[in-house]
Amino acid sequence: MTGSSTNAASRAEGRPKIVLGIESSCDETAVALVTTEREILAQRIASQEAEHAPYGGVVPEIAARAHAERLAPMIEDVMQDAGLTLENIDAIAATAGPGLIGGVMVGLVSGKALAMAADKPLLAINHLEGHALSPRLADAELGFPFLLLLVSGGHCQILSVEGVGEYRRMATTIDDALGEAFDKTAKILGLGYPGGPAVEKLAKEGDPKAVPLPRPLKGSKESHFSFAGLKSAVLRAAESGKHEAADIAASFQQAAVDCLIDRLEMALRDAGPLPALVVAGGVAANQTIRTALEALATKHGMRFVAPPLALCTDNAAMIAWAGCERLPLGQSDPLDFKARPRWPLDPEAETVRGAGVKA
Ligand code: KG4
Ligand code: ZN
Repeated sequence: MTGSSTNAASRAEGRPKIVLGIESSCDETAVALVTTEREILAQRIASQEAEHAPYGGVVPEIAARAHAERLAPMIEDVMQDAGLTLENIDAIAATAGPGLIGGVMVGLVSGKALAMAADKPLLAINHLEGHALSPRLADAELGFPFLLLLVSGGHCQILSVEGVGEYRRMATTIDDALGEAFDKTAKILGLGYPGGPAVEKLAKEGDPKAVPLPRPLKGSKESHFSFAGLKSAVLRAAESGKHEAADIAASFQQAAVDCLIDRLEMALRDAGPLPALVVAGGVAANQTIRTALEALATKHGMRFVAPPLALCTDNAAMIAWAGCERLPLGQSDPLDFKARPRWPLDPEAETVRGAGVKA
């Protein structure tokens, strides 16, 4: 090798790497370009909310078709937005699970095709790992370990995030995810889908103590969440005709907060002191929940980190970023990597059969 090509090689070695990320595990089609220096060069996201709204939830077949239609042009757009070609990309990161399998396959196969065509490494990303590492994309100061509460329409987990690829599940749901419980409560109260923001808005006008509702598994030593019983209690309260909808919404939200805090206290007892408490997932938009989490963090002398909501909800920047975390560690995945409908982050954790759609 000549001196100048050695220099060129070492310059290439030293420059930030660029990863193209693809997300298609639920009802968001998303593509992003992110660098190992935490720069989001371009990103696009298309929600399928309108397609699924008439059904009150995500319909897997509709989701897979929408991803298949939108993904390729979206990848082109993102490359154009950043003024880059595949040549300039260092790796392709695609969600390989867990999630609705049809959609996951659309994204993963697209990622494989790009990786093959451009002769770049493929990183098959666990969607949950994307959520777990995304706070570090927004916050360069956030080191390992930290305690993560992941609460969305598909997930309800507490994870101790100890390093890239090192996750300890401290709790998961045995039935519904918390976002699902918000959505079902909204449906019962006739508020439409997605229900979280509507329930939060109505709850502001209600009394959180007005309706007696259960706190499932509160105080339990099992590291689990459960929201199915709470939802049934909300239904009974609504059908009784004895309560204002706003009081039901406020009481439900308070019960949810109490369950979260109780389970987080349990996780902190198990995990020991951790420097930071991080929240991610769509439910992190809820101000009452944020306030309660912040108070809990203060009580335990922890930093409270709530990344910008666009990074908390499903997006492709978090998938690209997980790639950015793994690539410098010399990791990549084979082109025959299989899409996985279920893929726990912590292989040691017991399987919970009823766990929320994507847990
Ligand atoms: O992360 P996300 O956008 O998608 C996944 O489910 O993965 O989360 C959406 C969920 C929905 O269930 C929605 O009702 C809930 O997050 N959500 C909220 C709020 N905003 C969104 N739940 C409670 N309060 C909110 N303000
Ligand atoms: Zn998600």
